[in-house]
Amino acid sequence: MTPDLRGSAVTGFALHAPERGKVEAIPETVIEIDDLGAIATVHRPGDPGHAAAQRAALTLPAGTILLPGLVDLHIHAPQYPQLGTALDLPLEEWLENYTFPLEARYADTEFADRVYRALVADLLACGTTTAVYYATIHDAATCRLADICIEAGQRAFVGRVAMDHPEMCPDHYRDASAEAAIAGTRAVIDHIRAHPGNPGARVRPMITPRFIPSCTDELLAGLGELARETGVAVQTHASEGDWEHAHVLARHGMTGTASLDRFGLLPPGSVIAHGCHMSAEDMTLLARREAAVAHCPWSNAYFGGAVFPLRRALGLGVRVGLGSDISGGPLASLLDTARLALAAARMLEAGTDAGLPPGERSRHGAARIDAVTAFFLATAGGGEALGLPVGRFAPGQRFDALLVDPAAPQGMLRLWEPPEATDPARLLERLLHGTARANIAASFVDGRRVAPVAA
Ligand code: GUN
Ligand code: FE
Repeated sequence: MTPDLRGSAVTGFALHAPERGKVEAIPETVIEIDDLGAIATVHRPGDPGHAAAQRAALTLPAGTILLPGLVDLHIHAPQYPQLGTALDLPLEEWLENYTFPLEARYADTEFADRVYRALVADLLACGTTTAVYYATIHDAATCRLADICIEAGQRAFVGRVAMDHPEMCPDHYRDASAEAAIAGTRAVIDHIRAHPGNPGARVRPMITPRFIPSCTDELLAGLGELARETGVAVQTHASEGDWEHAHVLARHGMTGTASLDRFGLLPPGSVIAHGCHMSAEDMTLLARREAAVAHCPWSNAYFGGAVFPLRRALGLGVRVGLGSDISGGPLASLLDTARLALAAARMLEAGTDAGLPPGERSRHGAARIDAVTAFFLATAGGGEALGLPVGRFAPGQRFDALLVDPAAPQGMLRLWEPPEATDPARLLERLLHGTARANIAASFVDGRRVAPVAA
């Protein structure tokens, strides 16, 4: 497969979820990609010009399926070395005992370089073409993460973590002051915006107060002011679990979402991780602000104490995408996140206590989502959350895509009939559940192949 599709066209079988709950299979589609990696035209069979366009296009290997690239809204890049481990403690103890000591090691930029290179390469190979990263409080290591994303061609948002609260953060891993955290955040924003390899802003900064408990009010206010001044969006955590939710209510006398808003920390395109304990008012406020929830079902299972009411949030107009939450979530593939998002919504609907009669085990009513919606959240839904034109095969969208090879010998994705003969919703459901890293023959961002990397 050619490493660069810019200025050319491909033809093959494409499958996407362009709207929530809607799937479209496009057999023999021809996708023309402009010189900068945007989709110029999508020809469907029967359209005028389809046959001529198809003759000029590169044919994708027989049996392969083109999917939109995956958008992971919440990743703690420095936590990759503890992925899949150390989940035996509640959040506040997990931070103090495992996570802060690990993150403190990124004062060593060479260590950061080693971890971040491996992470970005692994995520691209797993189909994450857009990634929203927390880094650490270290300016140099955070800039290194942005540089690595730029070099590897991943679309990314990168945030220098800000955390200055002397009672909530350990001495060994804390910003010296609110001013220091704000100055560091500004320096990283400037670095990313001025990077000579980043003229199209494929990699962007994000303002990143870790969460309200770890920040002083002075820092929260200063970062809100910085967001207003620079137009940079914000990522943080809110209403993740009982401890943090109650801590913010006691300290600020309002929910995390309401408090972030009064500090100016919910500009459009912002991403709030978790929200398991959000009220309907919180969700309505997020919808109004055009800020999104990163739904992270894996880490919610360990830290949330509750299941995020996904369908209620969608019903209230909240933009929702999915987050792996590496390493509060133990799995790096966003398809694994989508799988648990489906299962968690089903359990929310069914309830959990077999001692109660069916129908009385949950007070959430209809809470399930279908596989097409889960896939939408992992692709176009995540793109909408970030205000990015990604996740669909349509003119004006970036060509960020995965080429799935169902027949890859190392995979377990057995299709028993050709894709063209399968109901598109069933096919997408099967791909969502069965696609392994080995089935991802190539990942593309802006029309360039980013995995596997050319030798
Ligand atoms: N809240 C504050 N920091 C973190 C973190 O690193 N992971 C998760 N899941 N929640 C947090
Ligand atoms: Fe997180």
